[in-house]
Amino acid sequence: MATTSECRPQIPRSEVNAILQRAAAFCREMNFHLPPFAYWSPERWEQAGPEYDEIRRNRLGWDVTDFGKGDFARIGLALFTIRNGHPEALGETDKTYCEKLLIVEQHQVTPYHYHRKKMEDIICRAGAKLCVQVYNPAADDSLDRERPVAVSVDGRRSEVPAGTIIELHPGESITLPSFQYHQFWAEGGTSLVGEVSKVNDDEQDNSFLPELGVGRFPDIDDDVAPLHLLCWECAGDE
Ligand SMILES: [Fe+2]
Repeated sequence: MATTSECRPQIPRSEVNAILQRAAAFCREMNFHLPPFAYWSPERWEQAGPEYDEIRRNRLGWDVTDFGKGDFARIGLALFTIRNGHPEALGETDKTYCEKLLIVEQHQVTPYHYHRKKMEDIICRAGAKLCVQVYNPAADDSLDRERPVAVSVDGRRSEVPAGTIIELHPGESITLPSFQYHQFWAEGGTSLVGEVSKVNDDEQDNSFLPELGVGRFPDIDDDVAPLHLLCWECAGDE
């Protein structure tokens, strides 16, 4: 979450704005259309009444992170959550699923993490290939470098050696069950990646490899005004 901390590197809002402009342009280039609220200004959000609470409550919209490392080009990710449920409201009328779009730049790593509950399909939709590296977690939450990993790539199950890098070209996907470490990056350019999963809960569900010292949310320095609000800002969180 965008909290202030003196020891964490900050990402300037001007950089977040540029990342969002680049991400939106790449979606247009790939002919992937985002919903209208992707282009709303902060002023437009102020006018949006309670009829838009699903967007706020379920954290839809833009999401940019440098994983707290201050080096977005190397360790970072821009995302857009298109739809989601709420982790604490899984009644019959609530969505039990989530769909995201991930804009993964060349050699830009989303660092090792597993999900405690969420199962997700990561889909290379268009653009450059996506490389996904998988491990099982060891008992101490480090990478288990011995135990083979059970994977399912486009519906084909197999067992691969620990640390295998699975290359996904446009149209290909991998299913990542809970408690399976994964990191990913693009090679050859920017990759437009889809994620289809169970309900997403970025507050509770992500377990990053401890030795990396990363966090899920960035610390933003508002050197300029935001072009678009990020999903937790739409929700009115700090
Ligand atoms: Fe993940």
